[in-house]
Amino acid sequence: MVHGGADTSSAPQFCEVLREASLAGHRALVAGLLDAAEEAVKILEGSPLFNAGYGSVLNRDGEVEMDASIMEGTTGKFGAVAAIRSVSHPVSVARLVLEETPHVLLAGRGATEFARTRGFPPVDSRSSRMVEAWQRARDRAKQGLSPETSLFTGLPPDSSSPCDTVGCVVFHAGRVAAASSTGGSFMKAPGRVGDTPIPGAGIYASSSCAAACTGLGEAFIETLTAKYVDSLVELGIHPQEAAEKAIIRLAEKRGGAVGGIIVVDSRGRFGAAHNSRSFPVALVADGKLDESFIPRKIN
Ligand code: GLY
Repeated sequence: MVHGGADTSSAPQFCEVLREASLAGHRALVAGLLDAAEEAVKILEGSPLFNAGYGSVLNRDGEVEMDASIMEGTTGKFGAVAAIRSVSHPVSVARLVLEETPHVLLAGRGATEFARTRGFPPVDSRSSRMVEAWQRARDRAKQGLSPETSLFTGLPPDSSSPCDTVGCVVFHAGRVAAASSTGGSFMKAPGRVGDTPIPGAGIYASSSCAAACTGLGEAFIETLTAKYVDSLVELGIHPQEAAEKAIIRLAEKRGGAVGGIIVVDSRGRFGAAHNSRSFPVALVADGKLDESFIPRKIN
C-alpha cells in the first residue's frame, strides 16, 4: 500500500501516480521487501505532484531539504537521511545508509556528501509550482500577512496542492517493511527535521507490522505514533483499528493535529485512517490493484 500524504488531493492524476507506484512496488517484490518499498516511493519522489523528491515544499530560505527513511520489520534494520539536499531519490540514499554504513541516520551536509560518494548527481528539486508558492508566501510575509495555507504544509488548502509526506508499507510471506519520503513542512526553518526519518515517530516496522505516517511531523514525533500503532498490533489489534486509534490519540494529545497512517501486519492484514480532508492511497493485493479499499476518515 502507498499513500500520497495527508490533505493531498484524491484527483485522478494523483491516484494514477499512486497506482503506478504500488504496481512498481509489487513488481520489485521479487527482489525483496526493501526493493518493493524503495521502488514505490521512488515513483512518488519523481512526480511533481507530491511533497517528496522533485516537487518538495521549500523552506524559509527558498530551498528544498528532504527527509526519507526505510525499515525492514524482521531484522529491525533502519536507514534514514534528514535535511538532505539536491538528490533525486532520498529514499534510495536512506537505503544505502541502512545497507552500507554502520549508522542509521545521516543529516544535512553529511547526508548530501554521502549521496555524492554513492553516485547521486546534484539535482534541483524545486518545481516551478513550489517556487511560486514560496514567492507568494514570502510576499505576504513582507506585507505582514500570514500565508493562507493548510495547517501543516503552509500551502493553500485547495485541491490541487501537493501536501505531505509519501509512504509505502509492504507485506510478503509473513514479513513487512516500510519506506517514507518528504520535503517536510512549508517555510520550515533550515535544518528542521520532521517525523519521517525518526523510527517510531513517522515510520516503524517490526516482526508485527509496518506503519508509515503523514501529517504534522512535530506531533508524530512527540507522540511516537508509528510505534504506538506497532504496540497495538503486537497486542493482537487489527491494523485498521490500530490506525484509527492512533489518529484519535494523535488529535487528542496534540490539539487537533492532522495526519494519516497506513499499516500492514505480518499476517497481511492492512488498514489506513486519517483525519485530514483527503488521504489518497493505492493498494495492490495478490498482484492486483484493489480499488475498493478506502482509508477510514476519523472526524
Ligand atoms: N510529515 C512530514 C513532516 O512533518 O516533516
